[in-house]
Amino acid sequence: MHRICLRALLTLLLLVPLARTSDHGSLSSRAFVTGPWSLVQQGTTGVSAMQLVVTVIVAWGAELNINTQTVRALNPTSNTWCATGSFIGNGTLVSTGGNPIVITGASGLQAVRLFTPCSDETCDILEDPTRIRLASPRWYPSSARISDGSMIIIGGSMVGPVFINNATVNNPTYEFFPPKNINGFNGLQIPMKFLQDTLNANQFPIVKQLPDDTLFIAANQQATIFDWKTNTEVLRLPDIPNGVRVTSPFSAGSVLLPLTPENNYTPEVMICGGSTISDTQDPTTFSAETPASAQCSRIVLTADGIAAGWSVETMPVPRIMTDLILLPDGRVMIVNGAQTGVAGFGMPGEEVLNSVGNSPADNPAFTPVIYDPSAAAGSRFSSDGIPASTIARMYHSTATLTPNGTIMLAGSNPNPDVTKMNSTIKFPTEYRLEFYSPPYMSQPRPTYTGLSAIVDYGSVFRLSITLPSEAKDVSVVLMDFGFATHGVHMDQRSVKLVSELSSSKETITVTGPPTSAIYSPGPAFLFVVADGVPSFGHRTIIGTGASPPVDEGAIANMLNKTSDPSAETSPNTWST
Ligand SMILES: *[C@@H]1O[C@H](CO)[C@@H](O)[C@H](O)[C@H]1NC(C)=O
Ligand SMILES: *[C@@H]1O[C@H](CO)[C@@H](O)[C@H](O)[C@H]1NC(C)=O
Ligand SMILES: *[C@@H]1O[C@H](CO)[C@@H](O)[C@H](O)[C@H]1NC(C)=O
Ligand SMILES: *[C@@H]1O[C@H](CO)[C@@H](O)[C@H](O)[C@H]1NC(C)=O
Ligand SMILES: *[C@@H]1O[C@H](CO)[C@@H](O)[C@H](O)[C@H]1NC(C)=O
Repeated sequence: MHRICLRALLTLLLLVPLARTSDHGSLSSRAFVTGPWSLVQQGTTGVSAMQLVVTVIVAWGAELNINTQTVRALNPTSNTWCATGSFIGNGTLVSTGGNPIVITGASGLQAVRLFTPCSDETCDILEDPTRIRLASPRWYPSSARISDGSMIIIGGSMVGPVFINNATVNNPTYEFFPPKNINGFNGLQIPMKFLQDTLNANQFPIVKQLPDDTLFIAANQQATIFDWKTNTEVLRLPDIPNGVRVTSPFSAGSVLLPLTPENNYTPEVMICGGSTISDTQDPTTFSAETPASAQCSRIVLTADGIAAGWSVETMPVPRIMTDLILLPDGRVMIVNGAQTGVAGFGMPGEEVLNSVGNSPADNPAFTPVIYDPSAAAGSRFSSDGIPASTIARMYHSTATLTPNGTIMLAGSNPNPDVTKMNSTIKFPTEYRLEFYSPPYMSQPRPTYTGLSAIVDYGSVFRLSITLPSEAKDVSVVLMDFGFATHGVHMDQRSVKLVSELSSSKETITVTGPPTSAIYSPGPAFLFVVADGVPSFGHRTIIGTGASPPVDEGAIANMLNKTSDPSAETSPNTWST
């Protein structure tokens, strides 16, 4: 049984005008707009949308202009399937790792692909494996943009496709882009014990940058706090409750709940779905009909919160391969995925029991759920007013918030493209896009102007705003839409800024994020939210827009000690 990451790199180019805003009062009760949602199927991705980054992202090297719904080809030379991605501090998207299968060009396992979005559609992916590459091969790694604006790349397998990790193929290390000379590892990969302890189901680990400048990492049934600056595991957290496994092929969704001045930027992580299937049994004995987990687990990452442990809630239906999307109003949309089975793509003859063609998952979870983290326990989940989709979004599906406040769903390829296969198989590769509009989309929207292209930490700036009449609760929220792939959502973040509305309600004075650990330097979308109705989110860059630190010595050492992977070929053969 193999999992194939088909190749892709679709970029959603957002032609986003730079900004305007408002914010914040000492709101005690939070306003949300209730009412009917709408769902439209509109446009296609042109490629299988396995990875999704707004202002960029994902599969087969294509860029989707979300405004015009046109697709243009990008030209990666290495296989991008199964890669991770993060924006770095200067606004460049860095995609690393990928698939060894050479369709055209090179193996993607050690690839580093740079893409700097542009508004004139002339930019393309830059690759130069003779100078820019990972120190070690990675299939199904994760990544995060860290507090110095660079990227940390964590885990994965040394080869691919691998249905489930094991000690032979595991890559229990992390590294940086650009490479760092740190803790005795001069540009090379650094061993991480947590990635040995979490075998076998530890691909695509869950990683969150925390406000105290450590990382939350979860894999399999375990979770930890890790400090890359000292290369130490600060604290092993309690296991995910009830034996639930949360990483590939038992892929759960996860989110860092909104950081706000009111909660003193206290981090709280939520992980939803996954599976209790054993990670030591032969994958061909898994069944596509085994129910996934319906569990959501939350933990507050303070001494008291960790002592209290995970709190457990139950979603309306179980989900595997779900994605959790932060909304500008502070709620979380739980979307996509299947109710049974596991993540992956079973090659002919290597399928799991009851597989649906190549799909080891069945029973798509068609109805999204809204989760309100601030509501009383027991009344946080709701699907009221939300129409179900009819499009299965399972393996290689993605979801993202858009700057306009809609939620875009794309992709799914449990089975190959029917137009190529000449069959009517259930769950074919999916090219249609869908957009969910929350009820706030049909309300009068706040608007703002005056956002500069770069907003530094602690800087004070004023936005001119137009509020719907009677608006009372006005806040300013910075969002990172992140990079979504395989139900893992790198770098997704919501940080509420301190702000003060003028008495005329025509301007709002906003203070940039307090520290680079609270919001890592790099791209952000700024929303003014009035009584639960967000403005359009205009793009800016937090920090200085500078490139992350470059250590030429570390790069030279890495290049000296590793070989150019672009000459590699793979014994694997799989034709799209
Ligand atoms: C580890 O995974 C690889 C790739 O799937 C497989 O070829 C190998 O047999 C596995 N090793 C063990 C000990 O299971
Ligand atoms: C944003 O959404 C509103 C409401 O649906 C719509 O009228 C407007 O055209 C959208 N704007 C963009 C840029 O998508
Ligand atoms: C699909 O298969 C059918 C039956 O074998 C054949 O008649 C038809 O021409 C095929 N269509 C395509 C597009 O290959
Ligand atoms: C951002 O930094 C990276 C790493 O140094 C560099 O390769 C890239 O060209 C930079 N992008 C821009 C737009 O300067
Ligand atoms: C690579 O390292 C070797 C020793 O390990 C050294 O002799 C050689 O000069 C280095 N080459 C470069 C290009 O740094």
